[in-house]
Amino acid sequence: MATRHRILQLLQDGHFHSGEALGKCLGISRAAVWKALQSAGELGVRIDAVSGRGYRLADPLELLDHTQIYSALATTSQELLARLHLFEILDSTNEFLMTRAAEEADSGTVCLAEMQRAGRGRRGRSWVSPFGANLYLSVLWRFAQGPHAAQGLSLAVGVVVADALRELGITDVQLKWPNDLLGGGAKLAGVLIEMAGEAGGPCHVVAGIGINVCMSEDVATEIDQEWTDLTRHADRPPPSRNALAGAILNRLLPCMAGYEESGFLPYLERWRQLDALCEQPVTVHSPSGEVYGEGVGIDETGALRVRHSGGISRFSAGEVTLRRAQ
Ligand code: BTN
Repeated sequence: MATRHRILQLLQDGHFHSGEALGKCLGISRAAVWKALQSAGELGVRIDAVSGRGYRLADPLELLDHTQIYSALATTSQELLARLHLFEILDSTNEFLMTRAAEEADSGTVCLAEMQRAGRGRRGRSWVSPFGANLYLSVLWRFAQGPHAAQGLSLAVGVVVADALRELGITDVQLKWPNDLLGGGAKLAGVLIEMAGEAGGPCHVVAGIGINVCMSEDVATEIDQEWTDLTRHADRPPPSRNALAGAILNRLLPCMAGYEESGFLPYLERWRQLDALCEQPVTVHSPSGEVYGEGVGIDETGALRVRHSGGISRFSAGEVTLRRAQ
């Protein structure tokens, strides 16, 4: 593990540590500690350096931890987990697993990063991914029956995340079709499913989840939609990111492992309960134009239903964008 990351681990307690004490712990010189901490700025981590006292984190930080995440998993989920990759910086956890999938990584391979340089959002957007503040998590699964067996998976993952948040005491989270999680009407989290493989043959699927946990206002200026995070939504300190990752994986691994057999049906009722736009005025933007109407939920395949002057139309995810009408 890189020296800088090991120093950040030691500083996580929020106390001052002298350069000498840090160096002693890691078997390096005080100068090497100083040098490693100079580069913390590129992560956006602010360090207080006070002569005679040493170094301290300016803001609280909880780093991702393999042992804590693994021990939060039930035995079934531990068995489904093939490998848990944790990175300090990555372009994108989804991209990492899509590449690994092409190199034979197993179903149940999981990747988390403290920061993404090129986090991917839906429809080619970027996902703002500052260091240590939020959760960026992806899971790989192989589907022997091909892409059609993953129909509705992105909606099911939305349910999984909402229920994991509820388990941690974060309530009033709603789902906006196809796979946004909203808190107080603003975006709290998003799901990005990527897949590759033969049309009728085996394929691999990566389910990526980004949750805003404690976003700084500075970084959030890059977000081009109304947003919130767990801290603002719950109006109290957020849950531990390790506990959050564990709670999500505890539901997501069994969901992905069973999905080829179960399909979307077991998640349908729960999705409907969490639907933010049911009976709400909506606008659907499709390549053939705009449809104004009222959301009337989803069907058993996960397609959106909208009632309008001409009757009820169904829309599939990927084809259209949906907005709450003013
Ligand atoms: C959306 O646009 O709502 C989907 C956002 C998905 C972001 C997550 S963060 C972890 C994973 N890796 C990525 O590059 N994207 C997804």
